[in-house]
Amino acid sequence: MVTVGVRREQLPGERRVAATPETVRRLVGLGLEVLIEAGAGAQAGYPDAAYAEAGARVEQTADAADIDVLAHVRPLDPASAAALRPGTVTIGFASPAAETATVTALRDAGVTAFALELIPRISRAQSMDALTSQALVAGYRSVLEAAMRLPRFFPLYMTAAGTVPPARVLVLGAGVAGLQAIGTAKRLGARVSANDIRPSSADEVASMGGTFIALDVEGAAAGGYARELGEDRAELQRRLLAPHVADADVLITTAAVPGRPAPRLVTAPMVAAMKAGSVVIDLAAESGGNVEGTVPGVDTAVPTAAGDGTITVVGLTDAPSAMPYDASRLYAANVANLLALLVDEGNLAPDFDDEVVAGSCLTHAGEVRHAPTAEALAAAGMAPPEASDRPEPTEPTEPTEPEGGR
Ligand code: NAI
Repeated sequence: MVTVGVRREQLPGERRVAATPETVRRLVGLGLEVLIEAGAGAQAGYPDAAYAEAGARVEQTADAADIDVLAHVRPLDPASAAALRPGTVTIGFASPAAETATVTALRDAGVTAFALELIPRISRAQSMDALTSQALVAGYRSVLEAAMRLPRFFPLYMTAAGTVPPARVLVLGAGVAGLQAIGTAKRLGARVSANDIRPSSADEVASMGGTFIALDVEGAAAGGYARELGEDRAELQRRLLAPHVADADVLITTAAVPGRPAPRLVTAPMVAAMKAGSVVIDLAAESGGNVEGTVPGVDTAVPTAAGDGTITVVGLTDAPSAMPYDASRLYAANVANLLALLVDEGNLAPDFDDEVVAGSCLTHAGEVRHAPTAEALAAAGMAPPEASDRPEPTEPTEPTEPEGGR
């Protein structure tokens, strides 16, 4: 029987978990066994007893030798990847561009690794798209983080003591996270405006209740994705955005271009021109930041140019982990949906002719299957040794383990 293992996440501060009792029920229904490391869901609000009730085996440790499929949230560390048995399937975020040591460890251990960042963004794969499900959580959370730091109300209040005007929220980048931020800020009663360089985003912003700021700066590429603006256009965009930024009480930036560092939309002087007490939430902090001077994971107090106070610039990281119950619920569903695609009558049977399976496969049978990652590893001198370059064994040696053994 195929055993799906779920361990406690190793990254300090990570509270999400890759399976919930609900997905355990589903996986058991697919004919799989689920092994949960004790406490794996505790920080997300899913106790061991709930997993056991759903049909999982809860053990003190989830040993690599007992696992056929390892479901995880954060990329594995190289040592955990190297300890997996050949043929083990892993499903989770892998950050292949950054975590190259883990990618080579997965490759060299003969692991079949599926990276959720690589799920093709096509309709059939939407239910497996963890980047989208987690960006939704991050967009929602970004507004709450701003509201808690802002010394003002979000909504309009008309009271006997006087009228309080609504906060003005500006969202830059209206993708998954940005649209959720717009909707959430609107529900809290703010006056919301937004900009994006994809022409189609104007209607999406309006559908969430925001006012689209039209600038004559557009950059769409194939498949409706944004492409990086040239420096002239980027400079023009910053100049046109400056008065809108200065006018905002809250600025939330979520702009991203696939495969590129975060575009720099807001310069330090643009931040300094904001009002005292304003709040900037940079969701792209971890990929370089949309805002000059953002520090990932840190709140920075930036003095206003007028010298009358400070602006709080927040390099927001780990936003989905701050809402671990629902972030895990969505993430675990993404994992279970991909796993369902890999399983046939209780057996692992990945169909590499399937666009979703092939597209999300990072390593398989000792190879890196994702071409851009393979190229990057080759350029960094981390390609696997050519068969002809491998050292020949000088003397026949006794195998220490049975072939294919655990
Ligand atoms: P997405 O790809 O759905 O949206 C990004 C949007 O930015 C696109 O609509 C794109 O057209 C737009 N954009 C690109 N260049 C632009 C420019 N120059 N001006 C205005 N808009 C521009 O991405 P998603 O999933 O919404 O993620 C947004 C950001 O949030 C990413 O940087 C992602 O890594 C980050 N993120 C951060 C988390 C955290 O915990 N801090 C969690 C989840 C996502």
